[in-house]
Amino acid sequence: MEIIKSIAEMQKKSDSLRQQGKRIGVVPTMGYLHAGHTSLIANARDRADVVVTTIFVNPAQFGPGEDFERYPRDFEHDRSEAANAGSDMIFSPDVREMYPESFGTYVEVEDVSKILEGKFRPTHFRGVTTVVMKLLNITKPHVGVFGQKDAQQAFLIQKMVQELNLDLSVVVAPIVREPDGLAMSSRNVYLSPSERERATALYRSLALVEELIRNGERSVTTLRAAMEQRLASAQPKQVDYIAFVRPDVFQEIERIEPPSVLVALAARFGSTRLIDNVLITVPS
Ligand code: PAJ
Repeated sequence: MEIIKSIAEMQKKSDSLRQQGKRIGVVPTMGYLHAGHTSLIANARDRADVVVTTIFVNPAQFGPGEDFERYPRDFEHDRSEAANAGSDMIFSPDVREMYPESFGTYVEVEDVSKILEGKFRPTHFRGVTTVVMKLLNITKPHVGVFGQKDAQQAFLIQKMVQELNLDLSVVVAPIVREPDGLAMSSRNVYLSPSERERATALYRSLALVEELIRNGERSVTTLRAAMEQRLASAQPKQVDYIAFVRPDVFQEIERIEPPSVLVALAARFGSTRLIDNVLITVPS
């Protein structure tokens, strides 16, 4: 496993791999790797000759008062997890090199970055698209693999890649869950045992909405009420949103229509904010 910290060195490495005709796959992460992350690395492994995992806790995507400082970090654990999953390289830059004091250039995808997650975290997606743009320019991949866990992020990255004509393909891989349904997340370590147990309500409310849609329910009002009720039984501190989204344009809808709907939610258990979603096929 090769570990690269310097931006110039990573760019040189990628140039040389490209000259050798190698296909580069990149998996951007903020580290504290779990089975969701390693599934992306394994996915990239199948699509590329050389897999680069990037590990960088990106300050630009955390708002004031969010968990940047206490975000979990464990480089030794990440190094072995990434290697076991088939990563050839880790790119792990320094914050000061990524964001020198004079830094002032941002990439912002309009509109979709302002709804749902963007309403609760106003500068979050600007930070995400900026760092992803930088990581792509540094690692120069042919393919980038992202997770459906962060559905809005995946949509925005695909839109940025398409609209700014970046020369790579973007793959969005399925959500990996714990045996009881909770979506894997680096933030799950924040949960107390009681919160951890109650947090399964996120998945259970998504499973419920899937069943109701399969049984023919098409009213968003009815579906949202059913989900709210299921979530309330787990006593979250707050439900930030339950959204019904047309996945091709990422716009909220009022009535369920074919061919598919994305149901996305965010809720807080104690001080921990969790997100989850499910993509549901709607029969015509
Ligand atoms: P991070 O939260 O570390 O996630 C890195 C990648 O893993 C993202 O593409 C995310 O969607 C994916 N992922 C997380 N949990 C997953 C799960 N349970 N199943 C499948 N995939 C999962 O997302 C970020 O970092 C950052 O915003 C980043 C894109 C790296 C930019 O800083």
